[in-house]
Amino acid sequence: MQEKIIILDFGSQTTQLIGRRVRELDTFCEIVPYNKFPKDTKGIIGVILSGSPYSVHDPEAFKVDLDQFVGKVPVLGICYGAQFIANTLGGKVERSATREYGRALLTEVNTSDALFKGFEKDSQVWMSHGDTITEIPSDCQVIASTPSVKNAAYTNKSKNLWAVQFHPEVFHTLQGKLLLSNFVVNICHSHCTWSAASFVETTVAELKQQLGNDRVILGLSGGVDSSVCATLLNRAIGDRLTCIFVDHGMLRKNEFEKVMNAYKGLGLKVIGVDASERFFKDLEGVSDPEQKRKIIGRDFVEVFNAEAKKIVDAKWLAQGTIYPDRIESLSITGMTIKSHHNVGGLPKEMKLQLCEPLQWLFKDEVRRVGYELGMPESLIKRHPFPGPGLAVRILGDVTREKVRILQEADDIYIERMHEWICEDGVSLYDKIWQAGGVLLSTVRSVGVMGDERTYEHPVALRAVTSTDAMTADWAHLPYEFMATVSNEIINKVRGVNRVCYDISSKPPATIEWE
Ligand code: XMP
Repeated sequence: MQEKIIILDFGSQTTQLIGRRVRELDTFCEIVPYNKFPKDTKGIIGVILSGSPYSVHDPEAFKVDLDQFVGKVPVLGICYGAQFIANTLGGKVERSATREYGRALLTEVNTSDALFKGFEKDSQVWMSHGDTITEIPSDCQVIASTPSVKNAAYTNKSKNLWAVQFHPEVFHTLQGKLLLSNFVVNICHSHCTWSAASFVETTVAELKQQLGNDRVILGLSGGVDSSVCATLLNRAIGDRLTCIFVDHGMLRKNEFEKVMNAYKGLGLKVIGVDASERFFKDLEGVSDPEQKRKIIGRDFVEVFNAEAKKIVDAKWLAQGTIYPDRIESLSITGMTIKSHHNVGGLPKEMKLQLCEPLQWLFKDEVRRVGYELGMPESLIKRHPFPGPGLAVRILGDVTREKVRILQEADDIYIERMHEWICEDGVSLYDKIWQAGGVLLSTVRSVGVMGDERTYEHPVALRAVTSTDAMTADWAHLPYEFMATVSNEIINKVRGVNRVCYDISSKPPATIEWE
């Protein structure tokens, strides 16, 4: 049976990070909304309560019935989780007189407690709360303090309960990994058997069982998630899997051909559909970003459906949905900023069941599974690329000519990025989460080429570092690299006479311009 840690999400921005840290300990975990503690508790070896944007005294604060798990399995409360437990079990939480944000040192720490085993004196932790625990429940003991936060951590051993007011999951808590490892491995007794190899083995066996002799359809996008999903299914059911790859005409330069070849090399059965004519026609004269997205999403589903219908006897639709997609859609405080499109809305009469074998994985785990399956690096390390393609990287309306200009500029940028090897031997491309060009086709500026005046469009280059695309920072690209790329784009790509670099982080900007 799969042993797992349950992480109850009270809406903190770092809940996902807790999940990542637990998985890094080769232990499976599930992040569930604070009020959805599983009824079936088989395999649960521990529970972690996350932080929250709320104060425990807010009328709308999220509450949970602790009796479901306290005293039954080991529990760790983090920040709000620690305050909620203290407040519920008879302690006191009050507005703190001084703000408790940022770095702090654990000047007192009980290293004989299992949670702090191996901790150094004055270990740095990261605080982020406006409330503070002024009194812990009477049956608990303090196990760590900072100069301004006496109750930085407390425990009740007989209840198998621990709580910390700082955030062990963030980078700035320097021994945070050790603390989580103490909890997951020493206290919850995880066997640490969660790995890419074990995932492939159990998932292939489960898929064989689940799908039997049924036929499955899958929409490929060229991205790592759908490609890994297809390869995994191929391993389980062979050619009973049929993949459909729709070319909407707004992919990167030669992308469709390159990716089709890679898929064939993997032994996948792929139907490639060139539907670019239809997409360009429907996008004619449309410049509003959301409208462009909606049209592409609708056309995509219709083209996909038309192909899918030809595959008689299909019983399943497989999707490369990964864990962050699910968490975002389950999010308790989230809202839609952009309409992302995925294959969906297959006609009801086809009665397809959904198969989502990657639904518990984070992006880096999907990549590890890809390696385990022996997929080529070119597919595994590919930067994320939006479903609507270059259409959301061309400001204003989309034409074939604009796509051509952007494809040329983008291709120079990305190729040079592959070729640029950093001091540690890793290419610039592999260091970056995502990069691409944006054609500012609603803007023109004056330039001079030879003796001629030009009046053309700028291209903005975007490159970001990130771990999950929820937040991102602009990448500090080397100046010499930018100089080379800028020169080459302006000299070679007709229609572009200026190159800019986008230095906005997310938030407040987003990764894509539209
Ligand atoms: P934003 O622009 O919202 O993008 O910061 C976050 C991440 O999502 C990708 N993206 C999409 N992916 N369909 C997708 O499959 C879409 O419609 C879509 N829009 C944005 C984006 O490239 C980035 O990695």
